[in-house]
Amino acid sequence: MTGQELAQYFRIRLSTIHPGKLTPFDIYLLLDGRMVLYLRAGDQLSDGKIQSLHARDTGNSFFVRIEDQQKYRNWVREEMNRDDLDSFSKAKILRESSVAIMEDLFENPDVNSALDQSRPIITDFIKFMEREPEAMQFLISLSGHDFYTYNHSLDVSIYSLGLGTVLGFNKVELEELGVASLFHDVGKRHVSLDILCKKGALDEAEWEQMKRHPQYGLQILNQHPNISDAIKAACFEHHESWSGNGYPQQIAGQEIHPFARIVAITDTYDAMTTQRSYNVPLKPLDAVAIMKEKLAGRYDPDMLKAMYSVLFKMKAA
Ligand SMILES: [Fe+2]
Ligand SMILES: [Fe+2]
Repeated sequence: MTGQELAQYFRIRLSTIHPGKLTPFDIYLLLDGRMVLYLRAGDQLSDGKIQSLHARDTGNSFFVRIEDQQKYRNWVREEMNRDDLDSFSKAKILRESSVAIMEDLFENPDVNSALDQSRPIITDFIKFMEREPEAMQFLISLSGHDFYTYNHSLDVSIYSLGLGTVLGFNKVELEELGVASLFHDVGKRHVSLDILCKKGALDEAEWEQMKRHPQYGLQILNQHPNISDAIKAACFEHHESWSGNGYPQQIAGQEIHPFARIVAITDTYDAMTTQRSYNVPLKPLDAVAIMKEKLAGRYDPDMLKAMYSVLFKMKAA
């Protein structure tokens, strides 16, 4: 199967498909390099079939045609509105359906359309958080145990939405913040995979390369005329430090865009609480405590305080 043929499909996670309901789109299975029609639109997945399917779902074997993407998203939305489904299952469907779409967005060379396509995902998350008081808790508990960029970006986005909510952002601002957070590391497209995936510490030259991702990101975003300054700032300034010794510009305090100050926090938080090959993930409150004590001065202190509220709310829920 050529890359071009593969581009006609997008990946889905089978955990988003529940038995006992008609699926309005065909589902394909990638088998020995060929797309095999697995479930025809209008067919219903039986429990038995679901189980044998789930056993095969390695995360990248099931696909739907690109032209059915809207149908798939509508279908996810219907699931989100079901009364007979608990909040945790809904959180799972929402996250899993978004992760699969994110994987494809991250490969899309057209950043402008990737940004546009990501907006409905963000609004779905905002709606879900509004409707379900436990949303944040469940979403955080589902957060990735691996550190692929798209997983990381989705989690940073979810935390940023939580932080933005506590900080009193309105819906429009939240949507912009969510999209900005999703694309904060877009510049990593220009960092070599060897460096991104390296297990263990980077040498000096590799680190220099890695530290250039905010500039690379700005260059990518600047190629598209309609991208807001806030989205660009979140990308270019998220490694700046409140005390002025971050990179690349070494700006400080209020000079740093609020979106970038938020991402600085949620980015580090996600890195500290996510399982990577070479670290043991920290517990939520331990991570924030380290950010407050050992990394003192790096973050906007009021925002860091608000991060406690996000996590406290999560605990209380
Ligand atoms: Fe980054
Ligand atoms: Fe990041």
